[in-house]
Amino acid sequence: MIKPIANYEAYLEAYQKSVDQPEAFWADVASHFQWRKPWDKVLDWNFDEPKISWFEGAQLNITENCLDRHLAEHGNKLALIWEPNDPKERFVRYTYRELHEHVSRFGNVLRKNGIEKGDRVCIYMPMIPELMVAVLACARIGAVHSVVFAGFAAHSVADRINDSGCKMVITADALNRGAKQIPCKAVVDEALAECQTVEKVIVFERVGWPVHMEPGRDFWWHDELKGVSAHCEPAVMEAEDMLFILYTSGSTGKPKGVVHTCGGYMVYTAYTFANVFQVKPNDVYWCTADVGWITGHSYLVYGPLLNGATTLMFEGVPTYPDPGRFWQVCDKHAVTIFYTAPTAIRSLMAAGEDHVLSYSLDKLRVLGSVGEPINEEAWHWYHIHVGKERCPLTDTWWQTETGGIMIAALAGVSPLKPGHAGYPLPGVQPVLLDQEGKEIEGNDREGYLAIKFPWPSMIRTTYGDHERCRLNYFDTYKGYYFTGDGARRDEQGMYRIIGRVDDVINVSGHRFGTAEIENAINQNEHVAESAVVGYPHDIKGQGIYAFVVCREKEFDPVNLKGEITETVVAQIGKIAKPDKIQIVSGLPKTRSGKIMRRILRKVAEGDISNLGDTSTLLDPLVVDEIVEGKL
Ligand code: WT7
Repeated sequence: MIKPIANYEAYLEAYQKSVDQPEAFWADVASHFQWRKPWDKVLDWNFDEPKISWFEGAQLNITENCLDRHLAEHGNKLALIWEPNDPKERFVRYTYRELHEHVSRFGNVLRKNGIEKGDRVCIYMPMIPELMVAVLACARIGAVHSVVFAGFAAHSVADRINDSGCKMVITADALNRGAKQIPCKAVVDEALAECQTVEKVIVFERVGWPVHMEPGRDFWWHDELKGVSAHCEPAVMEAEDMLFILYTSGSTGKPKGVVHTCGGYMVYTAYTFANVFQVKPNDVYWCTADVGWITGHSYLVYGPLLNGATTLMFEGVPTYPDPGRFWQVCDKHAVTIFYTAPTAIRSLMAAGEDHVLSYSLDKLRVLGSVGEPINEEAWHWYHIHVGKERCPLTDTWWQTETGGIMIAALAGVSPLKPGHAGYPLPGVQPVLLDQEGKEIEGNDREGYLAIKFPWPSMIRTTYGDHERCRLNYFDTYKGYYFTGDGARRDEQGMYRIIGRVDDVINVSGHRFGTAEIENAINQNEHVAESAVVGYPHDIKGQGIYAFVVCREKEFDPVNLKGEITETVVAQIGKIAKPDKIQIVSGLPKTRSGKIMRRILRKVAEGDISNLGDTSTLLDPLVVDEIVEGKL
């Protein structure tokens, strides 16, 4: 329902207005939504506490804007197309009217089971329509959803449930992933052994696996729906009430709960969705991200529905039953806008052109990339073989904490440059900072990427620990939001994101703290200590390289590595499996005991010609041994 900016001059104009008069700019965007009560003040902020408040005094329910608002004129338009893992299974389509009804009924199920406004609900589900229904049903009744990606192991699920004190878990028996079936409910059962706050579990039957149902605690989705009304009165929310928590990794061991609020998140995700993808009424839009990540929240669920668009959700993986699956789905459902991650492109590129050349892809008109830097080879392959050189390819830079896309081309409107996210969206004021936190002026320069003015969907706090939010994002460079990324501004002022400058690694677009993986490895009884670094990986972007010191002198290296891998899988999940494990007798440490990761990074990269100054090390010989062990 947002009219996209039509040309580059209009973009420049909008950008200028967003900087000169940010409040007037955002008030104008916000006027396109349905509010129960208008705001008293557009923006109130300081980056010291930090305090960020958008549309204070306003009241709304985001699902009224996602669903009810469209019913009168577009009730029969498709809201959701769901494509199953198995191409032979029937796909599902919901109109806006149908989705509205499903959400309303399930909202009533939540209320019936004691969930009230403000309660936290953990959602641990496969990529099925019920996941979207569960998310929106929470928002409908004002419950705070905390979606946990269904690839996380029990211990990680328990941590997240406990950190936010969830009262309920919504899950499924199991999920389909390519040729495999993977349990969900059993993982939840194991997690709940470590949790005290969860009173009820609702289980959707997807696969038909036998599951344990705890009497009084566990209930079947289909049983709960029986006799439930299709009318669900939306909870009236303050603009700054919490909409959801989403856990993400930082440089410390424990993932943090990023908090997003109702009003600002709604306005920003809707605005950026319409503009970046240049959405038209008849588009079929497909974002391949899992709803367990921020991309799925903002650009599979909320952004598209807020604009009354048709969003496609895919249960499966890019390579099943073969590496042509993405393209087959594009043709099958006449997809016009396709948004995916570089790691998927690289893995399909490795499988060869034939798979993509067997499909017409003639409805595609816009391509997007997200999650990590897209290397030029992958950019061109995607642009040529998928987009047939006729579809603008927008590389979108943003973060869980930013809530929505920050730097990206408006497809077909802004200039494109492979490897570059490009210019900031209206409302976004990026800067490059030097070591001292001084702004670097001019173009053709590199520095730390920070943002100097608030935007509506920015992080408000980290759940239960505001100080952590302040220290993580607002303390390093006073007066700025610090992204943790390094970036370069080219001669034309276009941004190229270089990568993280903190101890965060990005593996296939999934974010981990190195400390988080080390903590997991250290749980193994044979491990004395460990250090994890990222290294360049052809498909994953970054791979996980673990240096491990063993407690015992005698050990079988093959067994030990296998055990360490199992420990990580049990603690975090398969997605955090180390790609390489090197057993070493010691780690390179300074005299004060700090691990010199710079050296380990070089070794992991295989760049051992120039290890830099090792004279400050406690035991420089350790480095020689590590280098030899690597060879
Ligand atoms: C980190 C945020 C944003 C949704 C998915 C990831 C990296 C993200 C790009 C891009 C280069 C990118 C950054 C960022 N990143 N998009 N287009 N080009 N790098 O969200 O898990 O919060 O990770 O992903 O390093 O800080 P996330």
